[in-house]
Amino acid sequence: MDLLIAPSILSADFARLAEDAQSASGADWLHVDVMDNHFVPNLTLGLPVVRSLRAAVDTPLDCHLMIDDPGRWAPGYAEAGAHNVTFHAEAAAASHSDPAAVAADIRAAGARAGLAIKPGTPLEPYRELLPSIDTLLIMTVEPGFGGQEFMESVLPKIRQARSWIGADRLELRLEVDGGINDDTIAAAAEAGADAFVAGSAVFGAADPAAAVAGLRSRARQAFDSHRH
Ligand code: DX5
Ligand code: ZN
Repeated sequence: MDLLIAPSILSADFARLAEDAQSASGADWLHVDVMDNHFVPNLTLGLPVVRSLRAAVDTPLDCHLMIDDPGRWAPGYAEAGAHNVTFHAEAAAASHSDPAAVAADIRAAGARAGLAIKPGTPLEPYRELLPSIDTLLIMTVEPGFGGQEFMESVLPKIRQARSWIGADRLELRLEVDGGINDDTIAAAAEAGADAFVAGSAVFGAADPAAAVAGLRSRARQAFDSHRH
């Protein structure tokens, strides 16, 4: 199975987004953190920036929506050209949106649909939803900020998701986000993650392309050693 490395532009220079994105050559996806200052206590960027990035960069955009009311806003990110649009299960629940319907709307608007869950959110209630989505994003930090420490307590949830993907023969990307670096990526890959977001570990490095390559080889070795 191919493994995806998704540098997060949250750690890039927002005045030089396109140049920074291109500096992370070898990346499979470019992870775009959309925050609304309501769902999380931080504010980043929205549709105009996603549209401009789409035009300026070839790498597929992986939009991670940390926003309230995803049923209202998520399809717009698909229309803006995102490859993958991931919304939070907790935000859908708070706005009484059916996550399967939100995912269907994202797909109808032309993108792959992803569901994200925070570290404290259990996976069990979402098992039946998994066939309706393309990406499951398991947060390995509390969403809101880059540069936080990887939470090892989330590893059992990653293992659980990987075992369901095998048992139910799901076509599902299992993505991890938060605190992924050279020291932590192996644990996430051993647990069964196959897509890895890294912000500070890529854009905080002197050579972002070399950082992407280094993360990929560590993830490969760990993933294969557990024969996922
Ligand atoms: C956190 C964001 C992450 C963030 C990761 O809310 O969703 O994508 O950019 O940054 P690092 O890799 O520095 O933890
Ligand atoms: Zn993210």
